[in-house]
Amino acid sequence: MRYEERIVDEVQALNDIVEVVSEYLPLKRAGRTFKALCPFHQEKTPSFIVHPEKQIFHCFGCSTGGNVFSFLMKHENLTFPEALRHLAQRVNFPLPEPSSRDPKEVSESEQLYEVYRLAQEFYSANLKHPERGKTAREYLKKRGFGEEILETFPLGWATPDWRGLFEYLVRKEMKQDLIYRSGLIQRSKEGNPYDLFRGRLLFPIFNLQGKVIAFGGRTLGDDPPKYINSPESAIFRKRRELFGLNWSKRFLSQEENRVLIVEGYFDFLKVYLSGFRNVVAACGTALTEDHVRILRRYVQEGVVIYDGDQAGEAASLRGLDIFLEGEMTVKVALLPRGKDPDTFLDEKGPEEFKKLIEGAHDFFDFKWQLLTRRYRPSDSGGLVKISSEFFETLLKVKNPLLLDRYIKKLAGLLGVGEEALRTKLVSLQKKALPQEKERMEPRVSTLLLPQPEELTLIALFLEDFALWEKAARDLAAEDFRHPGAREVFQELKALKPSGTAVAYNQVLNRTQDETIKSFIVAHSLRELSPKEREKAFEDCARKIKHRRLDERLERLRRAIRDAEGVGQGEKVTELLKEYRSLLTQKG
Ligand code: CTP
Ligand code: MN
Repeated sequence: MRYEERIVDEVQALNDIVEVVSEYLPLKRAGRTFKALCPFHQEKTPSFIVHPEKQIFHCFGCSTGGNVFSFLMKHENLTFPEALRHLAQRVNFPLPEPSSRDPKEVSESEQLYEVYRLAQEFYSANLKHPERGKTAREYLKKRGFGEEILETFPLGWATPDWRGLFEYLVRKEMKQDLIYRSGLIQRSKEGNPYDLFRGRLLFPIFNLQGKVIAFGGRTLGDDPPKYINSPESAIFRKRRELFGLNWSKRFLSQEENRVLIVEGYFDFLKVYLSGFRNVVAACGTALTEDHVRILRRYVQEGVVIYDGDQAGEAASLRGLDIFLEGEMTVKVALLPRGKDPDTFLDEKGPEEFKKLIEGAHDFFDFKWQLLTRRYRPSDSGGLVKISSEFFETLLKVKNPLLLDRYIKKLAGLLGVGEEALRTKLVSLQKKALPQEKERMEPRVSTLLLPQPEELTLIALFLEDFALWEKAARDLAAEDFRHPGAREVFQELKALKPSGTAVAYNQVLNRTQDETIKSFIVAHSLRELSPKEREKAFEDCARKIKHRRLDERLERLRRAIRDAEGVGQGEKVTELLKEYRSLLTQKG
């Protein structure tokens, strides 16, 4: 099923790219454009820009670029029709019902979103139901959460029934194999379906667009396991998801330059509702590089809130290194033994919690404290142990200023010379190097690129429609060798865009060729003056003309040779005449 191009253009025009991208990344204004850290590759300084006038985005680091559709397709792994439907829905644009919707066109993700949406609807209604949801609501109340919590956080309740959700999904005409793929329904050895969550309070996990992608479920009693999480799927990668970020993200980029990281779902709720809205929780895993990469788009600093028990675990220390690698600074706030943020806030209140956060230790001091509890820096064995643990961390600090400060500090604490530490660090850095290099290999072969002058011409037309008249006079579609470029040229001829953004997007909406898209976008950001554009146009047009002439000359040469071979004197004379006239054209 293809949507009409008119509709594609219209949906695109209604969805401002700055607004759409802002739903996924915090954009900061920088002159005429907006900037962010690129979500498509690792980087430390923002090279991802969004251009409001042209309604396009581009990353100068990884050359990814395109319009609002391309952004969604890349960022959310959607097919084109899915991106289109998403954006149409976003602005309440009524798409014509696709007459024959090819099931192959609906991706796994979109199908799963639908199952999880229905499940959320079902579970949330259960919790609100006067009788069915009573025990669960009482449990919430016992833990200090009144019913108003459901207005902010749409929690759910899975009744103890074995097949409540299963039957609901069947009633809603979900296909059996999809139901099983969602992981929400399991099968017994005999093949009988049953609900994964029974008798559990459910925390829906939302992605940044507010779609439910998983649930965490807590038993109301003490029966283990305390929590069950729905399994990973095409829409849920727990290494990438942060519980609560969908709610806290706007506070992170606007009000706070640091994020509080807690462990539990309940901790999140309590902390958020106590007024600390810059908080997230990992979804039942240790923090990962992906988590940090995502947080880094919003804030510079993480404050990890551990309870006193686990602080000694090596795992928590390794968790801190992840922040350094991701170029975030990180602090540690330690709770009293046996307390988590939820119980701490219940007992001590927000003022004390605030003090705790303000008093968080820099990770460096925290690590020092922990290690010196285990080893003695004064004896040589201890010195070696402590320093090698610190080297592991220091290798990950990429900011040279910070690194310098840490080395000085460590040298002071250990009572050794700075130079010795530096020498050791350099030798360790060298060992770690080859791996880094491999990652830097360019991915796209430049041989695949179409003729640059053809693309430049197209980019120039988009920027300046006055050039178009010239082009229409001087060039024909056949002058374009690359099929994609030729197609765009022809289409442009038929369209009469009314402005730059329209021109860019009409072309981007119609081109499947990714190379062409990225090139056009990258080129459009060069901001040439009208004079420069004219000059570039002349150069490109001349090059193309010359290439065409060379091709024709070559063809003529061959024809002349053939005619001579069979003694067709008259034909030879005629061809020679044409050949000479072409030569003068070439000048
Ligand atoms: N968790 C999990 N699976 C478990 C136990 C824990 O996924 N079997 C995750 C959950 O995300 C949980 C977090 O780890 O929220 C922290 O676990 P824990 O401290 O045991 O629970 P709390 O969140 O404090 O829950 P509660 O306050 O209800 O005891
Ligand atoms: Mn708890």
